[in-house]
Amino acid sequence: MEKKTVRTGIIGAGFSAKFHFEALKKVHCANVDVKGVFALQGAEEYAKERGIKVYDSLEKIIEDVDVVHVCATAESHESIAIAALKRDKFAIVEKPLTGYFGGDSKDFNGENFAKSEALDCAMASVKRMLEAEKKSKGKILYAENWIYAPSIQKEREIIEKTGAQILWMHGEEAHSGSHAATYGFWKFSGGGVMITKGCHPLTAALYLKRVEGRKRDGKPIRPKAVTSRTHALTRLKNFRDEGHIRADYHDIDDFSVMHVVFEDGTIADIFASDIILGGIHNWLEVAANNHRTICNINPNTAMQTYNPVEANFKDIYVVEKTGTKQGWSNPSPDEDWFTGYPQEIEAFYRTIAHGEPVETDSGLAADCIATIYSAYISAEKMGAEVVIPH
Ligand SMILES: NC(=O)c1ccc[n+]([C@@H]2O[C@H](COP(=O)([O-])OP(=O)(O)OC[C@H]3O[C@@H](n4cnc5c(N)ncnc54)[C@H](O)[C@@H]3O)[C@@H](O)[C@H]2O)c1
Repeated sequence: MEKKTVRTGIIGAGFSAKFHFEALKKVHCANVDVKGVFALQGAEEYAKERGIKVYDSLEKIIEDVDVVHVCATAESHESIAIAALKRDKFAIVEKPLTGYFGGDSKDFNGENFAKSEALDCAMASVKRMLEAEKKSKGKILYAENWIYAPSIQKEREIIEKTGAQILWMHGEEAHSGSHAATYGFWKFSGGGVMITKGCHPLTAALYLKRVEGRKRDGKPIRPKAVTSRTHALTRLKNFRDEGHIRADYHDIDDFSVMHVVFEDGTIADIFASDIILGGIHNWLEVAANNHRTICNINPNTAMQTYNPVEANFKDIYVVEKTGTKQGWSNPSPDEDWFTGYPQEIEAFYRTIAHGEPVETDSGLAADCIATIYSAYISAEKMGAEVVIPH
């Protein structure tokens, strides 16, 4: 059978646009014809390195393709995805799906507004996106790579085949600070570390409870309420900066914890922070009624290396965000694979080319947004429980 060809456009030319392009090279289920890139900044260089065309408008690139990869900063996700859906195109949307970015106010500061406003506005944005999707022949394909990480998919298999009941999950995404210049400003990121990093382990936890409910009763078990605390540790007056942790945030949290209660009374505790040294720290532990699993997304012990001299490894990529390559380390022999990037893009192209259902649909993305902005209300109330809107 002849492979279908999918015409592709990349929106954004930064960090995520790069790993999306790498994953596109590995798609098996369809021929991928990358038509080009559109970005506010960096498009020329990105296009030159990859031998693709630069578009000068969003409209033109959408016109020429079947799917856009929305790899632009979070505040633009809604408008780009809706523009694509209106023309019956697919939109692969990076995390977070959308959010609250402070409206048009020039003086907006993430610390000085009622967090209920953030929840209401973010949910209104989600609603507009879901309505556009309903009217479209295209779909929102939510790019939450954790769901496609091999360890999370293995856990899905265990839950499905053993009929497990998950009682408690705890997980974390953390490192020593994100690279992007816009990170650190609520108005670009839609919040602090609770949304930018917390969305990953949270969505994995929401997903596994969905899988459990889907298997047992044919419907997902959804999050019901959340309790949260957030902190800005690197902005404490007495923070002693020794240069290892990024510490130039404007108005965001750099530490957060969410305690999520699901409809069936079971729970998840999700940590996210920008204060962890020693490389990226991404894991989810599942305590079920019939098994216990620890998904070590990054680092893991697939490889352990001892290097006596830092300079030996000057040309060796070891693992994301590691501070030093000297001594013992856990190099990732295929970091993208352990992180789920190629698997998620393959899954999305199976949906686009062959109509297969997608695990990370807009409903899962919407539950993530509802939970996180409810958590910001809880944090504002110093940890009071907040009911999550559906
Ligand atoms: N899944 C992951 O592991 C992961 C990792 C990093 C970033 N992300 C997500 O990817 C998205 C982008 O982050 P990044 O790190 O690539 O940012 P970045 O700052 O490296 O790049 C952003 C790119 O988007 C462009 N852009 C911004 N607004 C635009 C608009 N309206 N139209 C066209 N282009 C626009 C910028 O010019 C730039 O080229 C964010 O939503 C982020 O949360 C996901």
